[in-house]
Amino acid sequence: MRAIVVHGPGGPEVLSYEEKETPAPKAGEARVLLAAVGVNFIDVYHRTGLYPLPLPFTPGMEGAGVVEAVGPDVTEVAAGDRVAYAMTPGAYAEYAVVPAWRLVKVPAGVGLEQAAAAMLQGMTAHYLTTSTYPLKAGETALVHAAAGGVGLLLIQMAKAVGARVLGTAGTEAKAQLAREAGADEVILYAEQDFEQEVKRLTGGRGVQVVYDSVGKDTFLKSLNSLAPRGMLALFGQSSGPVAPFDPGLLAQKGSLFLTRPSLAQYAATRDDLLWRAGAVFDWIGAGRLKLRIDRTFPLAEAAEAHRQLEGRKTTGKVLLIP
Ligand SMILES: NC(=O)c1ccc[n+]([C@@H]2O[C@H](COP(=O)([O-])OP(=O)(O)OC[C@H]3O[C@@H](n4cnc5c(N)ncnc54)[C@H](OP(=O)(O)O)[C@@H]3O)[C@@H](O)[C@H]2O)c1
Repeated sequence: MRAIVVHGPGGPEVLSYEEKETPAPKAGEARVLLAAVGVNFIDVYHRTGLYPLPLPFTPGMEGAGVVEAVGPDVTEVAAGDRVAYAMTPGAYAEYAVVPAWRLVKVPAGVGLEQAAAAMLQGMTAHYLTTSTYPLKAGETALVHAAAGGVGLLLIQMAKAVGARVLGTAGTEAKAQLAREAGADEVILYAEQDFEQEVKRLTGGRGVQVVYDSVGKDTFLKSLNSLAPRGMLALFGQSSGPVAPFDPGLLAQKGSLFLTRPSLAQYAATRDDLLWRAGAVFDWIGAGRLKLRIDRTFPLAEAAEAHRQLEGRKTTGKVLLIP
């Protein structure tokens, strides 16, 4: 099969398009013929070595397609099922072998490209709003990179529970997308001081939760944007990792909570996975959750997809088509 292979950490140019042996499913695994592959920031971290994987490896943590073969002892899926998954490496390929318990059947009303676009970022927005900080009607949330893949979904899920949503975005065009997704206010954080804007927009009170995927550049001002006993859910680092800091700051700034959650722990069981992915697919099927598939690339052009994601050129979802 054709696949992207990384032989050593580096820039987008290390994403090499090669011939590779088609993997065979072992016990508890299924082989999926991939129709679409999701591109996520975690793929960049694997490529650069920030989150190291054993070399050589095929990147990609999300895909959707049709089950083509199953190993022994597989009960969750059968050959011919339309399925999607997240959080197993190896998706930048024509075929992926995935633990069967991680595969979710895609409902009839949802296309395979939509499914590949929805799994990782959709389940992330779901756990952040239902489990990490369960948002309630009347509360206010600040969502950074609001026009990004996770950002546009977070806005919609936060609005669905009746919360007020303040977003940040790098450009006016991105701000417009965030407004269309439902954000009540969008702050252009490259031009305006978002901490001051949040204070102004909340009458000096601050927000109950900040969903921060930007990291280094936003961290301290995100803490300063919180109401007393508010929570900073730091779930990414698009601008770079946050430096070590003194937990005493959390007391000084108002008995704050800080968490650094990962989808790995919030979709660690089959029950959690089926709950979160099921909710995301139900909302998509019912037209209550809009996916923005911003651009698709042939698998061979994975390097260009990474350049655009890292270069802040993309909004919503980026897909590769094997
Ligand atoms: N913990 C988890 O479970 C989990 C799950 C999914 C994703 N994540 C994390 O969430 C973050 C967002 O992921 P995503 O796939 O949805 O990407 P994304 O938000 O679509 O893309 C990243 C966005 O971050 C903003 N950004 C701000 N400073 C940046 C910089 N210096 N370089 C690049 N981008 C910068 C840009 O938007 P503006 O131009 O508007 O600023 C950019 O478009 C990533 O850090 C990812 O690892 C975490």
